[in-house]
Amino acid sequence: MKTFDDIEVRRPALAKSYLGLIKAQPGRPLAMFAPRRVGKTYFLDHDLAPAARQAKWLPVYADLWLQKSAPLEAINHALEEALDDVTVPSSEVGRLAKTTVKKLGALGASVDFGDAPARRPLPTAPELRLDALVVRLAAAADKPILLMLDEIQALGDVADGERVIAALRAVLHKRRDILKSAFTGSSQEAMVRMLSTAGSPMYQFAQLLDFPVLGDDYLEQLADHFAEVHPGKLLDLDDLRRVFARIGFKPRLMRDLVKSLSAEGLTDLDAGVKRFLLDDRQVAGWSALLQPHDLFERAVLLAIAHGQPPMGRETLDSLAKVHGSRPTVAKVRAAIERLRRAGLLAKGGSRPTAVDDPLFAEYLQDRSLDQLT
Ligand SMILES: Nc1ncnc2c1ncn2[C@@H]1O[C@H](COP(=O)(O)OP(=O)(O)OP(=O)(O)O)[C@@H](O)[C@H]1O
Ligand SMILES: [Mg+2]
Repeated sequence: MKTFDDIEVRRPALAKSYLGLIKAQPGRPLAMFAPRRVGKTYFLDHDLAPAARQAKWLPVYADLWLQKSAPLEAINHALEEALDDVTVPSSEVGRLAKTTVKKLGALGASVDFGDAPARRPLPTAPELRLDALVVRLAAAADKPILLMLDEIQALGDVADGERVIAALRAVLHKRRDILKSAFTGSSQEAMVRMLSTAGSPMYQFAQLLDFPVLGDDYLEQLADHFAEVHPGKLLDLDDLRRVFARIGFKPRLMRDLVKSLSAEGLTDLDAGVKRFLLDDRQVAGWSALLQPHDLFERAVLLAIAHGQPPMGRETLDSLAKVHGSRPTVAKVRAAIERLRRAGLLAKGGSRPTAVDDPLFAEYLQDRSLDQLT
């Protein structure tokens, strides 16, 4: 182990158990939820995809958040890339071997292999294309496909999200022998809302799971490396646990925190968090998040950070100062919706709407509205 950045936790057993769940229920995707930045994508990439390969499945990854405007096309694109990887040989020898032999003179006779019968072009309608691609890819790879769709809740924000879900659902069911799937999402509420709109209740469609955050494995490695760098100094495991929870179980943030302590040889984690809250880069990042939101939305965010019920009478009274008059509930609701879509607010299951990032929440709690501009 050389640096803090090399520290990682692999979860092959978790990946294997997920594959087991997927296998047990053909046609039903596994949908895993966790808040932002806790390691969902990392898990798909480092644990689930390798486990799938080991099980002789072909993992295919698509990030729906990045391609919000055309999610179905993004999925198709990922499948097409995978199909290219499977069918277009990359080595020189492979390429030569695939060149069509037109004529072969043998003892004066001429053998004409000709072109392989041309395949029908893939359908252009994205729904049909998805189905055709799945069939073609599974046949070419001679394996079932594991379609990993990251940030599935993005479908809730696109105009034709329902159509996409319906198409996915139909193909997942029809091709259940050759198509398996795993979704990740950072908002269970958005996902439930979205999946339930496409016909029968969502629980009949996907298997919902809370994706577990990292635990002591990770914290112990951080502490061990710290002890190596600073002989005689120790980070307390209980402190690490408490602070990890305080920052929302985000491994990279935790690592950065320990790194910043390590740079100065300090061991007080809580003091480290305090300094983090004032760090210029951190503050600049939060200011950037606030930029797109007007004063009223910021005021709503601040009220929520302070734990005030957003529609409560006192909140509405205090928002009146910003708004000029007492805002309507509809107006507050619209602000919450915009903050939610921007990822600043989250509503998890039965929990009330809250600031998504607990560290950002702490930052907001220490500020007044005029400090947020
Ligand atoms: N198992 C792990 N071991 C070590 N570091 C990890 C692990 N998982 C995640 N991380 C660190 O946390 C960072 C964030 O992880 P990742 O991007 O997977 O989170 P995410 O849940 O997909 O976030 P988002 O909601 O923003 O998509 C990674 O870049 C990595 O530095
Ligand atoms: Mg991610």
